[in-house]
Amino acid sequence: CERQDRRPHKQRLLVVANRLPVSAVRKGESSWQLEVTIGGLVSALLGITDFEVKWIGWAEVNVPDEIGRKSLIEALAEKRCVPVFLDEDLVHLYYNGYCNNILWPLFHYLGLPQEDCLATIRSFQSQFDAYKKANQLFADVVKEHYQEGDIVWCHDYHLMFLPKCLKEQNANMKVGWFLHTPFPSSEIHRTMPSRSELLIAVLAADLVGFHTYDYARHFVSACTRILGLEGTPEGVEDQGRLTRVAAFPVGIDSDRFVRTIQLPQVKNHIKEFEERFRGRKVMLGVDRLDMIKGIPQKLLAFEKFLEENPEWHEKVVLFQIAVPTRTDVPEYQKLTCQVHEIVGRINGRFGTLTTVPIHHLDRSFDHHTLCALYAVTDVALVTSLRDGMNLVSYEFVACQASKKGVLILSEFAGAAQSLGAGAILVNPWNVTEVASAIAYALNMPSEEREKRHHHNYVHVTTHTSQEWAETFISELNDTVVEAQLRTTQ
Ligand code: G6P
Repeated sequence: CERQDRRPHKQRLLVVANRLPVSAVRKGESSWQLEVTIGGLVSALLGITDFEVKWIGWAEVNVPDEIGRKSLIEALAEKRCVPVFLDEDLVHLYYNGYCNNILWPLFHYLGLPQEDCLATIRSFQSQFDAYKKANQLFADVVKEHYQEGDIVWCHDYHLMFLPKCLKEQNANMKVGWFLHTPFPSSEIHRTMPSRSELLIAVLAADLVGFHTYDYARHFVSACTRILGLEGTPEGVEDQGRLTRVAAFPVGIDSDRFVRTIQLPQVKNHIKEFEERFRGRKVMLGVDRLDMIKGIPQKLLAFEKFLEENPEWHEKVVLFQIAVPTRTDVPEYQKLTCQVHEIVGRINGRFGTLTTVPIHHLDRSFDHHTLCALYAVTDVALVTSLRDGMNLVSYEFVACQASKKGVLILSEFAGAAQSLGAGAILVNPWNVTEVASAIAYALNMPSEEREKRHHHNYVHVTTHTSQEWAETFISELNDTVVEAQLRTTQ
């Protein structure tokens, strides 16, 4: 976020997301240590030079005192970031509760948590109220920083109420909203107690974006079926006001990955890995430890593959990186135990005194190590049960220029629509199918591997994150703001 040119005449872009691209650790009464995280959105916006970008997002740290808050605001300002302070109780209901226990599973077709279903239903209203309150707090911070002529880009399922809150403050503000998850079939969205309020709030935006055409179509269907509005090829119309709805598939900053694997220290790392696993094929999974990633299903498929293909025992190793996430949400805690149990069983069944088939790692890795791992991989397994896009599949392809390994990809990841022709597409729920895909991938002739890789490499290196951000921003900028808003159902 520092690479932006600071000339004052540039138009400003306010990016509002639940998380900032910087995390802060308090080091004293008024001193902070900041660490920049280069996620997908950050790398997409680093390339945007026509706009002055400012980020607004949750501070993530509890700062009860004024001195602390003031000093954090000042420290973050140097990174062009503005914190939104949310207290712990609100975070619990808004982030752990409504965002990650209700919206997240529902948008990924997993339904509401079944075991504590009654508790979820009972606490629904308080979580929804907290969600609206948190969105209003984000809107208040946007209001403080907004200047006429700015455009405001809101991100993801955490902030579905934000477009409405912003337009209520200023109907002339130009507001875009982009969803990074799938938007489910209207039949799923219909089950939400707050189904109409959420749709109405999003429709307050001028431009609404999704990763795929299917997600956009589901959203328009939900608006026509639930709200009785008119869907047009451009979007959704309500009493003459159009909300533009369109697909903008995200990509990665592929150059960054291509450059990284050329670095001498990364090349050394690649050599070390190759030495260490000589004679064995390397398979790789890189996921947040999340239900939607289908890690247990993937492990069961790998177990089935080992059962059916004894000739591969000791000749293949699966690295499964499972980055801990949302660890305060009970569903995620249960998943961790389940995954550990399956890994233990498989390693117990198929390990020897010197080798184990699975290296399971509950942690994240730095960019260089990750790129080296991608580069030495023969077969990547991306088997999400649902995934908005899944950029691990893109990152793997970007690092495979020399190896030309195989990508096994879930048909339920948004990326299946762009990398489908080069990957082996699978239904992650069908462990027999995934086990056969693993065997097929490991035995694939080099000619077929090269052809498949080439298809995906061209896509990944031409449809970049920067292009994605530029397209969305320029469409938003061209949108005519129609001030009249729907306020009732
Ligand atoms: C998904 C969401 C992002 C979120 C990320 C990590 O990719 O679409 O908005 O930031 O998961 O989840 P977390 O809850 O740790 O922010």
